[in-house]
Formats: sequence, structure tokens, C-alpha cells
Amino acid sequence: MMIDCTAKELELLKIIGDCAQRLNLPCYLVGGFVRDKLLQRNCKDLDFVCVGDGILLAQEVARQFKPQPQVSIFKTFGTANIKHGEFEIEFVGARKESYAAHSRKPEVEPGTLEDDQKRRDFTINALAISLNKNDFGQLLDPFNGVEDLKLKIIRTPLEPGTTFSDDPLRMMRAIRFASQLDFTILPETWLGIIENAHRIHIISKERIADELNKIVLSKKPSVGFDLLYKSGLLKLFFPQMVALAGAEYIDGKGHKDNFYHTLKVLDNISENTDDLWLRWAAILHDIAKPATKRFEEGHGWTFHGHEVVGGRMVPKIFAQLKLPANEKMKFVRKMVELHLRPISLTKENITDSAIRRLLFDAGEDFDALMTLCNADITSKNQQKVQRYLQNFEMVRQRCKEVEDNDHIRNWQPPITGELIMQTFNVPPSKIVGDLKTAIKDAILDGDIENSYEAAYQFMLQKAKEVNLVPVG
Ligand code: CTP
Repeated sequence: MMIDCTAKELELLKIIGDCAQRLNLPCYLVGGFVRDKLLQRNCKDLDFVCVGDGILLAQEVARQFKPQPQVSIFKTFGTANIKHGEFEIEFVGARKESYAAHSRKPEVEPGTLEDDQKRRDFTINALAISLNKNDFGQLLDPFNGVEDLKLKIIRTPLEPGTTFSDDPLRMMRAIRFASQLDFTILPETWLGIIENAHRIHIISKERIADELNKIVLSKKPSVGFDLLYKSGLLKLFFPQMVALAGAEYIDGKGHKDNFYHTLKVLDNISENTDDLWLRWAAILHDIAKPATKRFEEGHGWTFHGHEVVGGRMVPKIFAQLKLPANEKMKFVRKMVELHLRPISLTKENITDSAIRRLLFDAGEDFDALMTLCNADITSKNQQKVQRYLQNFEMVRQRCKEVEDNDHIRNWQPPITGELIMQTFNVPPSKIVGDLKTAIKDAILDGDIENSYEAAYQFMLQKAKEVNLVPVG
């Protein structure tokens, strides 16, 4: 075996090789699994190509396992999938493909192994391992993929224009692999991406989002985003991020390039979290800077309210990119809205009340918010960085003290809207909300004690001011 397999994997390959031999179908392990093995990365998706009917082979393989797994057949693509334990296994018959110019639906004819390898995206993904009796375990590498793995190069097996116009998603994949594996895209392949970028529009937003999220989750996501930007792809599906790029100057005063600042924040946060959505919060934290940018005489550039406007942009951007409209989106929005709060605390005189408000507003996401704010410190001036970090540590410490005392993070004010409605016999209305907020504020500001009794008395007093009397 020319790749290092576990005993379990080897057993699986032998079973599949035997089935293929019985059906007289030459069979090969191809693609990502072979690549990842050679890179010593973990992979549980195995793709097999056979010269003949891949669906038939999948059915024969499924019969070997107990309990017998279901075979999911995708007739249009001629593929069949089986889930076996931790493995996702896919079978396909070797194909010669040509794509219609207007879509990514292939027109398929049966082909040889080499035809099939040729129509794959990159040389490093076109490696095959034979499962046939005469040369079991032999690596078949017609495009020097192993060499490219060693050189850390992304290269298309055919002329790049052909490979990319066949399936424009591959441009995203090239950049994703460069970011994920820390590889370089060969100049000729890179040119092919620039020339074909406009064709990305035929790809579904969901598939673009899948690749984008893999870039976001890579070790140093700035590599992928910078390539997306420079290739011209990013502006086609995420123009708001491209609008962050560049710096404007008035009276010799410029502001920082917010695109590269954002990438720095994203890399910084990626050192501290693998959470996809917290990484998205880093991408979007300054997204409204272009929309809120002003030059104020004697003051310079300002971006007042960019956190609020940015928060409002989050649902629209999520919808545009086909990211989920759920709790994750709300979390990202909250992070964008709150991202200046801990830093602004470091500037003013920090009162317990301000700290309590921050703890209350961030709630269970307080630690995530602090991680974002820490990543947002990107100044080149080391003295400034040191000062920010010190202030920041102080805020963290104060938050800890206040939290230990008051337990604000998971706190709910002791008087609910229900209770207010019952006490005064009023329907849900603005006054109920106003009273609730007044009670919450009074406790957070330390005006009254954090207890039911104190809050109840306060509620009666506030209600009296607006002529509300308790019933009964
Ligand atoms: N492939 C391709 N063009 C695509 C997608 C996939 O040529 N647009 C081929 C590649 O040979 C790839 C294989 O199909 O290796 C399997 O694809 P997939 O499972 O999507 O990706 P992997 O390369 O396995 O990588 P990952 O699991 O990281 O997505």
C-alpha cells in the first residue's frame, strides 16, 4: 500500500477490491482521501471510481456489511453512497465529461480511469490508488500530484480555463485549499481564476457558502480572503466586504484600510477560537464602516454608530450569503452591536453600573465578546497595543469582581411582565415594557437592591407616577 492506512481502512479497501473483481470492474480509490493520507490529515470520506457501473458496485459492497447499509443512488450523477460506521463511501463509474457552457450540469459518457482523473479539479485531487489484484495499493499519478503535494502547489490537471469553466466552484475550491493547506496557487492556475471569476454566478449560493465557511475555519483565514479579494471573486458575492478595502485621505489624514484590519482581527480571533460564528462576528464587526464614514474638520475620520448600523446589516448579509437565519445569526448580530462596549469602558471612568450593564447585555456571550474585543486590537504601535491590553485586562478583572458579587450574566430581573400585568390588571402594552426597563435599570445602576421586595416596592412607586394602581 502506497498510503498509510489503518487496519480498519485496509479491511474496507480489500472488501471493495474483492467486490470489484467479482463484478469484473477495475476499481480505484481517488481524490481527497488519497490526498489527505499523503498529507497525514484525517479523512473519513472515501471516493471510489470504477471502470463501469459504479451503482452496481455500491450495491455489491453494501451486501458485504451487516447490518446492510442503505445505498443512496443519484441517477443524474451516476453516483451511489453508503454510510458504513464512521466512513462515508461514494462510488462512481469513470467518466469522460464535457460541460455545457451555460451550466455546471455535466454531459457524461463512460471513460477510462485516466479520462476520469483528467476531469478532476487539481493534480493533488487526481491521485488514484488501485484496488485491483495485479497492482493492489499502487499509486497512479498521471499529473504529478505527489510532486505538487511536496511543493505545496495547487495546479489544474488541464489548461486552467477548461477546468474552471467546466465547474466554476473549483475557483473557490482552489482558494479554499490554498487557505486550508497553506498551499500556493500556480501562477497559470491563478490567471485562470481571474479570467473565469465572472462565471461564479452559475454556482448556487449554498455551495459558495460551504467553501466560504471552510475558508473561515482554516488556520489563517486571511490567506483565503485575500485571494478571494484579489481574484475578483469576493466582490461578486460579498461586495460589502470589498467596500472595506482602501483608505481615503483628506488634508493628508487617512484612515486605516478596514479590509486588512478585518483580516487581521479574523486571524487574531482564529488563534483563540474554532467557533465558526465567532469568526463570522470578526468578519462583520466593522462592516458598516464605509456606510458611516465621515470626515470631521479638526477631528479626522469617524465611523459613528457603525456598530448599530453593522448589526442591522447582519441579517441581510446572512440572507445574501445563504447563511442560516437562526440563533447563530442573532449571536453574530449581538457581537457586532456590542464590539465597542468593553473598549469604550476602558476610556471612561468605569462605574459598577456600566460594568453591570455590559454583563447584562452580553449575558452568556460575555466571554465570546471579550475574545472578539481582544482580537480587535491590531495597532502597529506597540505602546498603544500594550496600553489597550492593560486597560482591557482591567475591564476583564472588574467584570469578574462585579459578576462574582452580583451574578448579572445569567440574571433575569425579579419582576416579570406577567406580574406587572396581573398587579395592575393591564393588557400587554408599552407601559408594561417601560416599567420592566425602569426596574432593570434601577437594579443595574445600583439605585435599588437586587431583590424581589425592593423591586416590587420600586414598581409600585413608579406605577403611581403614571396613575396606575394595583388591583385587589
Ligand atoms: N472534485 C472535482 N471538482 C469539484 C469537486 C470535487 O474535481 N468541484 C473531485 C476532486 O477529485 C475531489 C473529489 O472530487 O478530490 C471529491 O470531492 P469532495 O469530497 O467535494 O472534496 P475533497 O477533495 O474530498 O475535499 P474535502 O473533503 O476537503 O471537501
